[in-house]
Amino acid sequence: MSIDKIEIYDIRVLCIERSMDKGMRSTVRGRTVAGDNDTVILMEHVSKAYTVGVPALNDVTLHINKGEFVFIVGDSGSGKSTLIKLLLRELLPTSGKVIVNGTDVVRLKRRSIPKFRRSLGVVFQDFRLLKDRNVYENVAFAQRIIQMPNREIRKNVPSILSTVGLAGKYKARPKQLSGGEQQRVALARALVNKPKILLADEPTGNLDPKNSWEIMNLLEKINNNGTTVLVVTHNREIVNAMQKRVITMKKGIIVSDEEKGGYIDED
Ligand SMILES: Nc1ncnc2c1ncn2[C@@H]1O[C@H](COP(=O)(O)OP(=O)(O)OP(=O)(O)O)[C@@H](O)[C@H]1O
Ligand SMILES: [Mg+2]
Repeated sequence: MSIDKIEIYDIRVLCIERSMDKGMRSTVRGRTVAGDNDTVILMEHVSKAYTVGVPALNDVTLHINKGEFVFIVGDSGSGKSTLIKLLLRELLPTSGKVIVNGTDVVRLKRRSIPKFRRSLGVVFQDFRLLKDRNVYENVAFAQRIIQMPNREIRKNVPSILSTVGLAGKYKARPKQLSGGEQQRVALARALVNKPKILLADEPTGNLDPKNSWEIMNLLEKINNNGTTVLVVTHNREIVNAMQKRVITMKKGIIVSDEEKGGYIDED
């Protein structure tokens, strides 16, 4: 099938995922009642010191269950990105336990790191798209890395581009897109391999309020389809409006963890 035909695919795949997910949501909703099998992110007594002195993370213990939507907030330098990097195994903790999707990332062998990372979707503030490739290729690239057959790529990429509302822009290069659209491509790329967990470090940091809301609404939709979503943000208005679990960090410590929380004022 030619690339010009890809628009004929729609979000049917998404609907299938949604119906498959129906059963799952009943178990994932109740973080407090769920058993250990539901834990997809576990940090126990995790500290990280980059240099001698004040640690960037200081004895952090955190459990996140399958299907949760969690905001991580806190003032600049409080350790939010450090936490995300530990989950991605970009960094190793100085001490403590980090288990992601059942993998002990501290003990993970170097050669197993790429495969482990492929089980995670990641989105950053600065989009990180391939500038010389079009939208379709930016997303297809993630599938080629996992050696997905071309036949599948030609189904999956249009489907995920529809999900993020970019089916009509598949030929555009990143520089021809708005910031919000570029972030939606980054989201599509993060999601096309169907990760269990999506980690987003300030995904709306470069976006205006309207585009920020569009991205957050998409993250919520993705979460409703069963993906666990962890979002680092400084966006007070969105955090207060969305009424999700909010973890607040301060100087490397979790100072608050609220089920339907809001943005706690920094002092
Ligand atoms: N590579 C590094 N080497 C040394 N110190 C670092 C390094 N990266 C981060 N830090 C320090 O660790 C602490 C936590 O940094 P981190 O990037 O996790 O904060 P953050 O909460 O993500 O901040 P922001 O909201 O500004 O992104 C800060 O004091 C920072 O200066
Ligand atoms: Mg940061």
